[in-house]
Amino acid sequence: MRFFPVTIPADTVSLADYERHFHERAAPGVRAYVSGYAADGISFRENRAALDALRLVPRILRDLSGATARSEMFGLPLDYPIILAPAAYHKLVHSDGEIATVMAAGMTRTWMTVSTQASVTLEEIARHASAPLWFQLYCQFRPEDTLKLVRRAEDAGYKALVLTADAPINGIRNVEQRTGFALPQDITAINLRDCEPRGDSPMRAGSPVFQGILDGAPTWKTLEWLCGQTSLPVLVKGVLHPDDAAMALDAGARGIIVSNHGGRVLDTVPAPVYVLAGIAGRIRGRVPVLLDGGIRRGTDVLKAIALGADAVLVGRPQLHALQVGGLSGVAHMLTILQTEFEAAMALMGLRSIGEADANLIWPASGSLAPIAP
Ligand code: FNR
Ligand code: LAC
Repeated sequence: MRFFPVTIPADTVSLADYERHFHERAAPGVRAYVSGYAADGISFRENRAALDALRLVPRILRDLSGATARSEMFGLPLDYPIILAPAAYHKLVHSDGEIATVMAAGMTRTWMTVSTQASVTLEEIARHASAPLWFQLYCQFRPEDTLKLVRRAEDAGYKALVLTADAPINGIRNVEQRTGFALPQDITAINLRDCEPRGDSPMRAGSPVFQGILDGAPTWKTLEWLCGQTSLPVLVKGVLHPDDAAMALDAGARGIIVSNHGGRVLDTVPAPVYVLAGIAGRIRGRVPVLLDGGIRRGTDVLKAIALGADAVLVGRPQLHALQVGGLSGVAHMLTILQTEFEAAMALMGLRSIGEADANLIWPASGSLAPIAP
């Protein structure tokens, strides 16, 4: 890893600033892959619009001595309810790749979810970690290949597994297609080198999607199998329906990630924040509920917590910041978000994240009814 001096532009004071500078600097194909979305980007834009549309109603003059953003998950202290979402191929945006990201995560005490399609081995990432890591799986390989990955993650000290369930196939990525984006030859999903697809049906002529790929896609049985193979908690990522959240718990999942994959898979699905309260209501605190998609401000984090999330994940901002400022960029980006979250808590009159509930949101289903004109 090369540590070269980075100059983060002085006007970089928010996650949106990192995104802007990323757009100015990144090659068109990389920009299309990172900032892109499925089809027309309806879900992608709605992720932000849904958060923007919510209003927070502060409570004043409360005693905030001893206030903290700390909580706990799977028996480990979590300093801020902000975790790095799995994102493939960090080397696409910076030659230090996931090593820089994980070191920045450690410096800011941030938990990181390592993508199954990381561009650095999961062991090397773990060697540079000083905060808990989770490992994300797609489970589309032969069971023995998946098991090997699970054992490697366990041996390297990962604290949880995340089964991504919303992307058995790629989305319709028109933004990428328009730029002709292709992964450079020297960047690979290095952890999957020896893995082979699970589906073994013959190709079916005339069917562009159902050509046997889906026969290898995970099912509820796969989730149950996975949960039985490891003592690590398994979270399911990509839940948008309360019934699926309940089924995931029945299958042995110990966490739910409400997500539409950042609007990258099926376009026109709802923003996670719209369905969060229904899912959290069904889960009733039995396991942690997390949310991702469009989180860019401390107030976004607080809105998700108020609507029932225990923590959020951030996806694209880590790649924007990594491209602009390497390790320093990611550490700075995470510090900005953590500071904004603390500011939001303080200005809302909250001493702990446990005090946040839907009454903070206007118009609320709780005590604050919208005022008629
Ligand atoms: C992703 N995401 C993702 N998810 C996953 O489960 N495995 C993966 O390998 C990836 N890879 C990936 C690459 C890139 C470039 C992006 C932008 C996203 C989805 C990610 O975990 C998360 O769900 C979204 O990115 C959240 O939305 P925001 O924060 O990007 O708006
Ligand atoms: C993506 C895949 C890697 O969103 O999950 O690009």
